[in-house]
Amino acid sequence: PKSEDQTILEAYQWLAKLYHHLLYHTKDGKKGLEYLHQRGFSDETIEKFQIGYSPPSKDFIVKFLEKKGYHRQLMVKAGFLTTNDQTNYYDRFRGRIIFPIRNAIGKTVGFGGRSMDGQEPKYLNSPESDLFQKSKLLYNFDNARSEIRRKSEVILLEGYADVLALHQAGAANVVASLGTSFTDSHASILRRYVDTVIICFDGDTAGQNATYKTLKLLKKAGCYVKVAMLPNGYDPDQYIQEFGAEAFHQSILDTPASEMTFLISHLKKDYNLNSEGDRLQYVENIISEIALLESSIQRDHYLRELSEQFSISYEALQQDLAVKLQNSK
Ligand code: UTP
Ligand code: MN
Ligand code: MN
Ligand code: MN
Ligand code: MN
Repeated sequence: PKSEDQTILEAYQWLAKLYHHLLYHTKDGKKGLEYLHQRGFSDETIEKFQIGYSPPSKDFIVKFLEKKGYHRQLMVKAGFLTTNDQTNYYDRFRGRIIFPIRNAIGKTVGFGGRSMDGQEPKYLNSPESDLFQKSKLLYNFDNARSEIRRKSEVILLEGYADVLALHQAGAANVVASLGTSFTDSHASILRRYVDTVIICFDGDTAGQNATYKTLKLLKKAGCYVKVAMLPNGYDPDQYIQEFGAEAFHQSILDTPASEMTFLISHLKKDYNLNSEGDRLQYVENIISEIALLESSIQRDHYLRELSEQFSISYEALQQDLAVKLQNSK
């Protein structure tokens, strides 16, 4: 007999196919397709990512799964249906764009469903299960793996839409975490394939703070990190929409900031640099970060930068750094 997991995987496969079919071949689906086209996603991209559409009906999927002979309670567990009383069952995803989420071997194990009418949540995801663990899955990892390995570099994004947009813009080594924060498990998965991770999160405060946390996790896992920073108010997808793929490559992706350049700018926001006390604390903070750098050439480089920016003698900074290096031994 089939295990529950096998049955759920099979159902996911059926549903992914169905949702994708509905996008192209129904009147309702047409709204979804127009929405995607209007956002600039091509049919080729939609096909590649098997994007779909879940109809607004309450029981379209209930009936479909019933016909296929699946047990309703198991389908609740899988996250396709919801019920509050074990008698009435409803489709979980209604009137949403469906992003199938595949595991590392290409099996669909979850869906992200985006609302098209402003309904909250913007993205409704499959519930956590043994098969669908957000802390261990990366969107598009199965597609991107060979290119990630070949380049020994991965571009880490925030959203599903960003993955589609960058892929369409010619960057194949792209993945995103699934709306939860990036974890140690994510870091160690990526570390097996790459030396370098380019973080390219949304250009807002949340994105910057997430960049900082993610950078620290990646460093701990032994990755070399660069940060492709976006102007405030843009995410990669929006930037490409507005300025085009070429501009995105030239101005953002191909000229990432070094880890330290990001930190120097990011850590500033916690201090009022007009106050002398704050300024000194900030410099101390940056020196602690510099002390963590492996290469003495790099340490020296940033020490000089700091010295110039804050008109502090290079020797004084050097002494401070020496103490920190000594203490960290
Ligand atoms: P964003 O809010 O930045 O959305 O969330 P987005 O990716 O730019 O989406 P579009 O362009 O408006 O379609 C980033 C990611 O966080 C997760 C999703 O994985 C999303 O891609 N998220 C966001 C959720 O899981 N639920 C939400 O309600 C919102
Ligand atoms: Mn197709
Ligand atoms: Mn965001
Ligand atoms: Mn975004
Ligand atoms: Mn977006």
